[in-house]
Amino acid sequence: MNTQPGSSLELDEIQGLVLNGYRHHTAARYVMFEIVDAARARAWLGSVVNHLQFGDYRKTPREQPPFIRDVCCNLAFTHPGFAALGLPTIALNGFSQPFQEGLADPNRARRLGDDGASDPTKWAWGGPGRPVHGLLAVFGMHCTPEGYAALKAVIDATLVEANGVRETAVLDTVPTDPVLRKEHFGFRDGITNPQIASLAQPGKGDIIADGEVLLGYENGYGHLPMAPHVPAETDRAGVLAPAVARPGFNDFGRNGSYLVFRQLQQDVRAFWEYVYKAKDAIPGLPAGREGAEWLASRLVGRWPNGTPITRYPERPGPDAEDKLNDFLYYETGDGFGARCPIGAHIRRTNPRDTTLPVPHDVELSGSPDDAEKRKAVLALTALHRIVRRGRMYGDPADPVYDLERLRQCDDKDRGLHFLCFNANLNRQFEFVQSNWAVNPTFAGLSRDPDPLLGARRTVPFPAADFTMPGGPGCPTRRVHDLPRVVEVRGGAYFFMPSRGALRYLAACGA
Ligand code: HEM
Repeated sequence: MNTQPGSSLELDEIQGLVLNGYRHHTAARYVMFEIVDAARARAWLGSVVNHLQFGDYRKTPREQPPFIRDVCCNLAFTHPGFAALGLPTIALNGFSQPFQEGLADPNRARRLGDDGASDPTKWAWGGPGRPVHGLLAVFGMHCTPEGYAALKAVIDATLVEANGVRETAVLDTVPTDPVLRKEHFGFRDGITNPQIASLAQPGKGDIIADGEVLLGYENGYGHLPMAPHVPAETDRAGVLAPAVARPGFNDFGRNGSYLVFRQLQQDVRAFWEYVYKAKDAIPGLPAGREGAEWLASRLVGRWPNGTPITRYPERPGPDAEDKLNDFLYYETGDGFGARCPIGAHIRRTNPRDTTLPVPHDVELSGSPDDAEKRKAVLALTALHRIVRRGRMYGDPADPVYDLERLRQCDDKDRGLHFLCFNANLNRQFEFVQSNWAVNPTFAGLSRDPDPLLGARRTVPFPAADFTMPGGPGCPTRRVHDLPRVVEVRGGAYFFMPSRGALRYLAACGA
């Protein structure tokens, strides 16, 4: 078994992207493909597996081998993709239901808020009639024309019909500024990500069980996540571990993870036009850009430089603030959202110690400030974490966010390739998106969807308010008519298999 000291993870088996966002690999390209000849595709898999990046480099300090590659490649498949490769039906049926049904399933689309312009029938890829079988994600160190040419060369050498696979969509990314790290609306991104317990850095918090991300390890409930198994006799090369508590079966899912991929287009001008206008309805805000930034930062829950509103309610904290993720809400005295509104994007996608109504209400003895109670709430919200791996695409808009300049800004396609890993699509990504983000009645609100993701979604009902709860000496304030500023342009649920699972697939049908 290949582990890093103190880690029980089989690092040689886990694809690198699950464990690492490859931040130093600033160039990235995602290629969707279709399997057109199963036998050839399996043979291709057998050879390509040795060129993928696995987590083995994490076994040693950075300056010692094995090193991370200059070009990191990772592979993932959709449910139809595994079927096309000939994975036995019993294993196909062992994947979780959301994965089997796919991201574009009409009921799922309703629940996730993918309606109107975001309806899967309008997607550029991944929607009905636009099948995706697999994803090849390629990352390079150099964000230059030559760097991208090198990525293209890798892709062109492998995704060819002679290998039984055909490209169906190529999605590029743009690097974020290495210092400011801002997404298109102008806010610092990539701050918060939970750490997998076995790889957690000493002294850093925000830790989730390995099995919240990886199949084959204990999750936050102390159970093994549900996993697809194959009859042991089909594993002729003996590359898979025996399934736990299921004699005669081997574990195809172990060391793999579900990957959500959503292409989210951002309307930067609509976001800032709205904020500039809506701020005028709030008494006492400074005029111009300062007031607009104040309101926009409530919608996000952080100032543009990433400092959290709950700790810096009046003005941004210092740019050099190094504890950007080191806060709770209740503990900061912000239990009811007087500083960081309950409906802000970061508060509703990770409520931390915010007390939530049923099904998460925690009734413990003692005062509401009881530390035990906060711990219990945290333990519950920790069951809905995701590990984000997204990257921006499209030319950045004018970074000044001045209204007049933004009005002249072009309408080019720009946004976020939102990627996240989790071991349970239902309880993690889908719960966060539909129960927390899109839900206008989240945590006692009544008509307030996620201001970035959920405005005017038809399910459960169209809503477009944003409430900023008051506190002593300050009335509750509310803005209305939030526009839709993010639309889904494509997407799919993938599963990123282990090295052993890829080798098993390569030998399928042999
Ligand atoms: C274009 C769409 C989106 C934009 C512009 C956006 C923007 C941001 C920004 C600026 C942050 C704060 C920086 C950070 O904590 O890393 C953030 C945090 C976060 N976002 Fe998003 N986001 C988008 C989509 C989503 C989606 C679809 C989800 C999940 C359903 C999501 C979940 C989260 C989570 C979990 C956090 C961390 C919250 C925390 O732990 O404090 N985001 N996002």
